[in-house]
Amino acid sequence: MRLDRRSLLLGTAALAAGASTRGFAQEQPGLRVQARNHGLVYGTCTDTNTLRNDPDLSAAVRTEAGILVAEYETKRSHVEPAPDAYDFGPTDFIAGFARANGQLMRGHTLVWHASNPSWLEEALASRPDEKLMTDYIRALVTRYRGRFHSWDVVNEAVEPEDGSPDGLRTSSPWHRAFGPGYIDTAFHAAREADPSTPLFYNETNVEGDERWFAKRRAATLKLLEGLVARKVPVQGFGMQGHLKLYRSRYSQATVSRFLDEVSAMGLKILVTELDVADIAGPADPARRDADVAALTKSFLDVCFSKPATLGCLTWGLSDKKSWLSTTKGYQWPDGQLSRGLPLDADCRRKPMWAAIADAIQYKHA
Ligand code: G3I
Repeated sequence: MRLDRRSLLLGTAALAAGASTRGFAQEQPGLRVQARNHGLVYGTCTDTNTLRNDPDLSAAVRTEAGILVAEYETKRSHVEPAPDAYDFGPTDFIAGFARANGQLMRGHTLVWHASNPSWLEEALASRPDEKLMTDYIRALVTRYRGRFHSWDVVNEAVEPEDGSPDGLRTSSPWHRAFGPGYIDTAFHAAREADPSTPLFYNETNVEGDERWFAKRRAATLKLLEGLVARKVPVQGFGMQGHLKLYRSRYSQATVSRFLDEVSAMGLKILVTELDVADIAGPADPARRDADVAALTKSFLDVCFSKPATLGCLTWGLSDKKSWLSTTKGYQWPDGQLSRGLPLDADCRRKPMWAAIADAIQYKHA
């Protein structure tokens, strides 16, 4: 999808024309409605502070999202800050908001190399006991049994830069403690706690054309093939979709081939964390908005063309709250907000919103 200048210009012109005719008037149905009408789901990550204290953004979450996920409050550092001292409050609150607004909820994430409380990191290093993982999974998955659309059981277990032949993240405290088998164990524990909720493996940076991405795709496919071959209870693959517009190359052919291999294993597909980093882009925000929209459309067109694809969540809804704007390597040095989400900082619909709506409309059944 790396758009050369000509197609970018064409894309920009088309989007501008589209924008003027279709407009982003707030009376257009929310993305949640458009997605549902086309057999897809669209949603966003969120957090309790937004839902409690930001009336504009929480209203937009109600209007646009058909599924929610906690951006960080269902991670271990927030759920179990001290041994056996669980805090389910924030996850309960977001799940309650979703239920009250007819939205689905998904869980993110049970086992990750990051966002672990220090007591756990120490325990894993000093006295590794699988119960440190399985007891937690059982506690959390049992609590939300039957209420979640899906779980990200394991997140980002691949890291070819760690040098292992299988491309796994051997630097993960879980891999250090239990070896690669921790992944199977985590999925079995989740399935024992909940007999039916679809269990996903979630991975990042598998979307681009460069060799760095290709190595991650190969390791991810190898991991998924192994899980399926061992009859580990995994039903879906979460492709995060953190796209780096001006720093990486993307093509529909690359994404299409990869998703075909994933779905050939019988797995469902969900774009779980879509956003588009606009760092290093042109100074004109309108140009960046058009470029972001063109890449979004091109990326989602190929994702939604796969029957196995369930839908897409963006990693945030409005530019006013995006991890991109506060993360080294993505944030603008002058402090301006990244423009990688469907709504602007005033919760107004941007060309990226129209790009998602257009991709949904033209989903190939
Ligand atoms: O808001 C609280 C603040 O009240 C509190 O004082 C402070 C003390 O810890 O924490 C603040 O929360 C922080 C939160 O971001 C809000 O800014 C958390 O510490 C911090 O860990 C959290 O970072 C999140 C990060 O994952 C780690 O959990 C980011 O929001 C979130 O966007 C990011 O999301 C990840 C996905 O889970 C996996 N894929 C990559 C993606 C981006 O890194």
